[in-house]
Amino acid sequence: MHGEVIQPIPGNHNMTSYEEACANFRWEDVEKEFSWYTTGKVNIAYEAVDRNVLEKGLGDKVCLYYSDPKRSEEVTYRQMMERSNQFANVLKKYGIGKGERVFIFMPRSPELYASFLGIIKSGGIAGPLFEAFMEGAVKDRLADAEAIAIITTPALRNRIPKEELPHLKHIFIVDPQGELGEGEIDWRAEMAEASTSFDTVWVDREDPMLLLYTSGSTGKPKGVLHVHNGMIQHYQTGKWVLDFQADDIYWCTADPGWVTGISYGVWAPYLHGVSSVIRGGRFSPRDWYKTLQDKKVTIWYSAPTAFRMLMSAGDDIIAEHDLSNLRHILSVGEPLNPEVVRWGERVFNVRIHDNWWMTETGGQVISNYPCMPIKPGSMGKPFPGIHAAIVDDKGNELPPLQMGNLAIRAGWPSMMRQIWNNPKRYEDYFRLEGWYVSGDSAYMDEEGYFWFQGRVDDVINTSGERVGPFEVESRLVEHPAIAEAGVIGKPDPVRGEVIKAFIALREGYTWTDELRDEIVQFVKTGLAAHAAPREIEVRDKLPKTRSGKIMRRVLKAWELGLPTGDLSTLED
Ligand code: WT7
Repeated sequence: MHGEVIQPIPGNHNMTSYEEACANFRWEDVEKEFSWYTTGKVNIAYEAVDRNVLEKGLGDKVCLYYSDPKRSEEVTYRQMMERSNQFANVLKKYGIGKGERVFIFMPRSPELYASFLGIIKSGGIAGPLFEAFMEGAVKDRLADAEAIAIITTPALRNRIPKEELPHLKHIFIVDPQGELGEGEIDWRAEMAEASTSFDTVWVDREDPMLLLYTSGSTGKPKGVLHVHNGMIQHYQTGKWVLDFQADDIYWCTADPGWVTGISYGVWAPYLHGVSSVIRGGRFSPRDWYKTLQDKKVTIWYSAPTAFRMLMSAGDDIIAEHDLSNLRHILSVGEPLNPEVVRWGERVFNVRIHDNWWMTETGGQVISNYPCMPIKPGSMGKPFPGIHAAIVDDKGNELPPLQMGNLAIRAGWPSMMRQIWNNPKRYEDYFRLEGWYVSGDSAYMDEEGYFWFQGRVDDVINTSGERVGPFEVESRLVEHPAIAEAGVIGKPDPVRGEVIKAFIALREGYTWTDELRDEIVQFVKTGLAAHAAPREIEVRDKLPKTRSGKIMRRVLKAWELGLPTGDLSTLED
């Protein structure tokens, strides 16, 4: 398994030798790339947008090539600067400023990116939400963050229960239809009146700028807080992992509701002043290949689930397109099957570079680099300056080939700085002296390559989306027919895992297809479509510990036909 190697594609890569990079690299040196090194004034949005215009002569360069089935638009760096300034002015007019949480809940569009950058220029904390969230999920996040404002579209407006959110004062609607209700503001009308210049609010490097909610195995989603200082890592990984060159056309397919869509959908490419492609609308293989071709994409960042869907659509469609501009492809979010890497090499004639990181790490931590041989199935090697290791449950580093906890020495630049409102959950990540414990298990081979093995906890990864079983279980038991519920991830060839629920019915209910559909719908409308179980199995009783906790481990063993292991804590 460790023997298969794909050699680098020759070229002028920013990193010429991984070993040399590790030996000579210091994070402090990266700071000199930024204007705050000389001015002492920091704001990541200034560094990512304004500096390209004001200091680097890139004002007329295309920042965004946006398109969806109905619209196509190019936005230059100067336009992005001006529009984000306008939105920062709008926020200021409504008295919204430093430290305030402003959420974004809308599909990808140029308006989304201008709003996002405007929030950060105004010193605020942006909270991007994935558009698939339904009312319950939106409410939980806005309530936890005590958000003061949100930007949305008419189609999504009804999922924001303003009357139940006492802190939420303003709802900016892009292209509202009909009369505006209380607290609702017409985004475009305000923008039209706002000045295109704005005095960026300078903050401290350690001041927060981004709040992203993510799931764990217990409790509600947690708000992962990131700070301006992360730019050091976004810049340097953009340089070495993405290997940005001045004339690259870069396409990151991730939504800004996920960390990838921010760290590598905004910060890394903008900090390098490259042009990004943003494609709105739904996924279709033909459309994706056409986008790669028409936009002449050179670097493409996506996820295993997308590659597997493309793979299953067949290679004939690929032959119909000219994809010769591609230099390399990147993948994150779930294990990248060796088979997909081989397929990528065959059909695109480039390598797919796996990389590992998390919402909490803020940026790439373990990666493959264009100058380094890759081993299909491995996530690569730690980024220079980052100490990743496999540790046992006491925090002792384990030797190669031993499986254990994938951990990182605390203190890399883009590390989260807080779990919002929940210091205990934050500390729990750092429970092993000095280590950030990821929740993943892995091992390292003799050559220092890391190999993913699985989650240590019960978190489900379906199509790259992290779903907390507890959230789904909580929603399920709100349904009148369900007495108890246990949720697990079931292996799936395309989605990685799908959600399977085991339930016990309340007295008086019988299991029918109608009830099944109703329950699936109930989870969809309460949480999000991707959180709904694909399979439901009814049992008389679910395995529980004496303290009443559903034993997901046993459910998983049932599902996989494996031995159930130690059942000494089972209630009877
Ligand atoms: C979890 C983090 C960071 C971008 C999107 C996901 C899994 C991530 C890989 C990989 C195997 C991976 C892990 C991790 N994961 N990358 N290359 N190989 N698994 O961010 O939603 O915070 O999820 O995704 O289990 O802990 P996220």
